[in-house]
Amino acid sequence: MDKIPTQDPLHQIILVAKGFYARKDRAHDLEHALRVREWGNKLAQEEGADSTIIELAALLHDIGRSGAVEKTHSESSAGLAVNILQKNGYPQDVVWRVKEAIISHSREAGHVPTSLEAKILYDADKLDFVGAIGLGRLFTLGGVNGWPLVGENSCETFYQERIQGYKEHLFTKSGIKYFEPLLLYMEGFWQELHAERLIISLSGYAKSM
Ligand SMILES: [Fe+2]
Ligand SMILES: [Fe+2]
Repeated sequence: MDKIPTQDPLHQIILVAKGFYARKDRAHDLEHALRVREWGNKLAQEEGADSTIIELAALLHDIGRSGAVEKTHSESSAGLAVNILQKNGYPQDVVWRVKEAIISHSREAGHVPTSLEAKILYDADKLDFVGAIGLGRLFTLGGVNGWPLVGENSCETFYQERIQGYKEHLFTKSGIKYFEPLLLYMEGFWQELHAERLIISLSGYAKSM
């Protein structure tokens, strides 16, 4: 996103977030945060949650990924978000609710989402890793990390070990409803990829793929 609409009520927060997301890992950039915000809003409407908390948490949930000062990126993002929200005059209860959601959006730190808003942020974040967008993000991440398409430590193993497993940990009914068809789309992609590899290998090419 080149221009952030000034009429957006969270314009100032997006501007600050944009600076943190400006780095090489385009799988976790401002566009990701904005899509998580959209998913979060959609789920909030269906689940009857406080969309303000979810929107703020979505925009800031990955800002601590680079140069993390805490053990995990979710803890770093939460700490940075507290400072940003306090500086922008948000009430203390909003700041703490956003912090709680951000800190538990990833399982890496062992925090489990307890509020409905935190559960929705968790699910919204995972929804951005499935479907065509999820595939795009997966290969972007693979590019950053030097992963091959298939084989050991590959895009496919990340899909099998992480993305497929998200389904078991989603918290909301609406999250599961949107996740399942998008995961199926990805499943079809891998089947297609292996079918193509078989065609190529039968004609003697790409044995090392
Ligand atoms: Fe994250
Ligand atoms: Fe994320």
